[in-house]
Amino acid sequence: MIPLAIDKLALSRYPKTSDQSLRAWNSADEYLVKHITENLTLDKSSKVLIINDQFGALTCSLSECSPVCWSDSFLSRTAIAENLKFNSLNEKINFIERTENITQPDICFDLVIIRIPKHNSLLTFQLNSIAQFINHNTVILSAGMTKEIHNSTTTLFNKYIGETTTSLAKKKARLMFSKPSSTPKVSNENLYDNLTDIKIYEVKEYDVKSYGLPGVFSRESLDIGSRVLLNYLPETKENQNLIDLGCGTGILGTIVAKNNSTLNLTFCDESFLAVESAKTTYEKNIGRSAEFHITDVLAGLENDQYDHILCNPPFHQQNVQTLSIANKMFKQSAQKLKDRGELRVVANRHLKYRPMLSQYFKNVKMISDDSKFVVWLAYLPKK
Ligand SMILES: C[S@@+](CC[C@H](N)C(=O)[O-])C[C@H]1O[C@@H](n2cnc3c(N)ncnc32)[C@H](O)[C@@H]1O
Repeated sequence: MIPLAIDKLALSRYPKTSDQSLRAWNSADEYLVKHITENLTLDKSSKVLIINDQFGALTCSLSECSPVCWSDSFLSRTAIAENLKFNSLNEKINFIERTENITQPDICFDLVIIRIPKHNSLLTFQLNSIAQFINHNTVILSAGMTKEIHNSTTTLFNKYIGETTTSLAKKKARLMFSKPSSTPKVSNENLYDNLTDIKIYEVKEYDVKSYGLPGVFSRESLDIGSRVLLNYLPETKENQNLIDLGCGTGILGTIVAKNNSTLNLTFCDESFLAVESAKTTYEKNIGRSAEFHITDVLAGLENDQYDHILCNPPFHQQNVQTLSIANKMFKQSAQKLKDRGELRVVANRHLKYRPMLSQYFKNVKMISDDSKFVVWLAYLPKK
């Protein structure tokens, strides 16, 4: 089986963008597929695990092997599924968000492909997790842009997999080759308990602790923007409904819930590990029931139901700066809020959110006076 060349596929990013300069693949994906084509022999029964495919270039290219596809991102998963469908490829892909979800427990992969993630903590978690599914015959191939691969990256592969070398750089991308050592690098007692890497920090003024799993935004300390937003939290009434949108560890929603025992909380994030972290943060500090959604923005939530939304929006997707996710967050917030509902947004001063918010809300006010961060209060949603 020969992998499909990336330039023969029609690939789109998700969310779709009108910016033609943003492609759904990069030279690290191309380098990987070319290397596999020229150096490895695969057939339909080859057992392949693909980790952190961004928009589906790798999964589409190797779809004939029905790979197991591990991504922490709901957006990436959506992109992968849509690109498989659009290219009329095998859609029977086993998506997982951790190795416990692998349905064949005794599987040993022939090939593991890893796109290097942004956070070493996520890479560590992933390398630790795959140890039980590889042996010394497994080919472990990783790739990233040169700026994403550091000495610390190689150190992690050496530590958790085995001897690791890197290729020459081509079009600013590099491959990494790891040879699994014959003795397992992870002790047996850790095998089923590898989500123990939780970072905890305390926000003393509110007596709340944040619990953050690998790769989750600001898991080691409170983000400075979020700290500013804490000075402008809404005064909530009994039985109101509040959404923590893009919740990360769930710190913002949990802090508001601390002072209102009747508040109904909903946490949303596109990262599986973020939502899992928010569950832990909320359960350990509050202990009541709440709703948790792994979703794109607020998809799946009912319109006109919420009194408050808090949001510290992302302005990057896969290392590319973008305002489109924030725009979608504002648009959907207006739909989900009641007529008298309010959205509070914190952002760096340089981000031009006012015109975007004004598209969806009749009133938009700056309510902070911080020199670096702006807190916007948007109300009277345009329906
Ligand atoms: C700047 S962080 C804020 C996290 C948290 N609220 C805090 O203040 O620490 C933005 C969060 O938005 C999430 N996110 C990014 N794109 C998203 C999308 N399309 N839908 C839902 N959440 C998204 C990210 O995973 C990240 O956790």
